[in-house]
Amino acid sequence: MSKIFITCALPYANGPTHLGHLRSTYIPADIYARYNRMKNEDVLFVCATDEHGTPIAVKAEKENKKPLEVAANYYEIIKKDLANCNISFDNFSRTSDPIHYQIAQNFFLDLYDKGFIYEKEIKQPYCEECERFLPDRYVEGICPECGVEGARGDHCEACGRHLEATHLLEPGCLICHNEPLIKESKQYFFKLTHFQEDLKKWVENNKEMPSNVRNYALQWIREGLRDWILTRDMDWGVPVPLEEAEGKIIYVWGEAFLGYISSAWQWSQRNEKDWKDYWDQKAIHFIGKDIIYHHSIFWPALLMAYGCELPQNIIAGEYLSLEGHKMSTSKNWVIWTDDFLKTFDTDMLRYYLTINAPLNRDTDFSWDDFQRRINDELADVLGNFLHRTFSFTNRFFKGKLPEQYSPSREDVEFEKMINKAPEQIGALLENYKFREALVNLIKLAKSGNKYFNDQEPWKNVKEDLKKAGNCLFLCNQLSKVLAILIYPYMPSKSLEILKILNLDERDLSWDNAHEFLAPQHPINKTKPLFKKIDDEIIEKEKEKLYQNLEGAVEVENIDELISIDDFAKIKLKIGQVISSKPVKDSDNLLKLIVDVKDKKLQVVAGLAKEYMPEEILNKKVVVLVNLKPAQLFGIRSEGMVLATSESLSLLSAENADIGEIIK
Ligand code: 2FM
Ligand code: ZN
Repeated sequence: MSKIFITCALPYANGPTHLGHLRSTYIPADIYARYNRMKNEDVLFVCATDEHGTPIAVKAEKENKKPLEVAANYYEIIKKDLANCNISFDNFSRTSDPIHYQIAQNFFLDLYDKGFIYEKEIKQPYCEECERFLPDRYVEGICPECGVEGARGDHCEACGRHLEATHLLEPGCLICHNEPLIKESKQYFFKLTHFQEDLKKWVENNKEMPSNVRNYALQWIREGLRDWILTRDMDWGVPVPLEEAEGKIIYVWGEAFLGYISSAWQWSQRNEKDWKDYWDQKAIHFIGKDIIYHHSIFWPALLMAYGCELPQNIIAGEYLSLEGHKMSTSKNWVIWTDDFLKTFDTDMLRYYLTINAPLNRDTDFSWDDFQRRINDELADVLGNFLHRTFSFTNRFFKGKLPEQYSPSREDVEFEKMINKAPEQIGALLENYKFREALVNLIKLAKSGNKYFNDQEPWKNVKEDLKKAGNCLFLCNQLSKVLAILIYPYMPSKSLEILKILNLDERDLSWDNAHEFLAPQHPINKTKPLFKKIDDEIIEKEKEKLYQNLEGAVEVENIDELISIDDFAKIKLKIGQVISSKPVKDSDNLLKLIVDVKDKKLQVVAGLAKEYMPEEILNKKVVVLVNLKPAQLFGIRSEGMVLATSESLSLLSAENADIGEIIK
């Protein structure tokens, strides 16, 4: 039994969790933790809320609250969200906990004493009105790189670049909007440059590291690292533990990582075990793609400076968009965990967010696709196989596992497949290929259905009861294997199925999953295990989502006139046609995909009489972008093409830039 330390990125305590968080980080980490426990490994799985940093301080200031009040509120909300998703943490703590302060300060002092942290005077924006320095988000302005307004002192959301607050154009204080002065202030820097070569070796030698993490890390290292500013002039955070540093705190990214350790420390206290034994053997971080830099560069360098074991691997889940558009909490274009769980159970969510795409690829949540996968895969394949197996056993074999008599060639083949499944699927999970493993589980259930159909036990119960018995003997064995192997993905369903098989948690051993149940083993009666989702339910969810979208213009019917108010809200953009196909059974419609730079819209346009599909390809068009998607001929239309570059010379679209907003 080996020890494994598993962590999830610490969520900021400034908002509830949404499907993006679950997909990239929490669900994959939980699958991995549950799988390893089933492999009889000794797992320590921890997380905490990240309670410092300017996002929380700014939110508190705007709401006239203390940062700790805001954080305490979201700690409870996040903890509940994640518990409702069955994320099986061994401990979930807070970075505002006193022990975290102690651990973070000791760590800082250790690096300072070793000479890896040094002081330097730097220029910082300072607001005279508010009488303070303006770190990170406290200052906003125009991004010097991409020219977009609303860039923050540390980061531009539009171009994704890391920024220096003093480089912002037209800067303003977020609280009073006055233009800040530039003042000198002493800050503490971490000698990141010192670790450049060691980091390179570490990444290069780590053959297990997924390619997305590895490639990013190596690219940054090649570009050359710079020392990191590790402190801020602010009062919300872990104070810098040096007398001469009064009024300064450790930058949130200089202490948040230690939340992994302080959470584990708390667990150690409760369990009289040493978290360090776990860390030293194997530590795996699960994170979102946006913080690969921090975990692959900054954190290992800090650990090298401290002189301890480095994490063995970093698994980074990529982005989840929503109905084809980037998720945005500020525009409420998001599905909150809590809202989702009001209608659907968590196993469906865990299933869908895993099967949707491999972790190292961006992907999209769409309500139609969610419904399709639940209905076609969970209900029609897995649910159907289990249901027919259990019902048939009850109906024709009095709820007792039949005996196997001289198995046929097909039986032997099928039996082999069942036997091999735990090892084959386990090997994928071992390598963090969560989607592939789940796809294989569904394939296994599909093979089960095929075998059941081929064996036709409903005929044989009358003609050849032994043959029917052989079929049901093996189908129940496969049901057992499936019930156990789906546990990391759908723990509640797994237990429900085990109950039908008269088994329980104690049978959740991965390595024993293939051991067959003995003849006469009782099989309970069952109801359908996976219900289909009705169209009306999905339509309601879509309604809710689009209502959320502020500023969307609703057009029920493409021919109807829109009101003056709605007209004022219309947003027009220049886009470029990147795909064009005729709509079946229509002589004037084309189905286009239009690139409007920040997203790709699927649009149905009445252009087929003027253009052959390929003639419109690459042309620029004027698109109404904030139109509530309409369904036309079974195609989702997410905008409306108003004109092509040729038909509307007034806007001279040919010279305009793609993505340019023209109204
Ligand atoms: O990006 C984030 O949401 C951070 N709160 C993650 C911190 S992870 C670790 F460093 F603690
Ligand atoms: Zn100010």
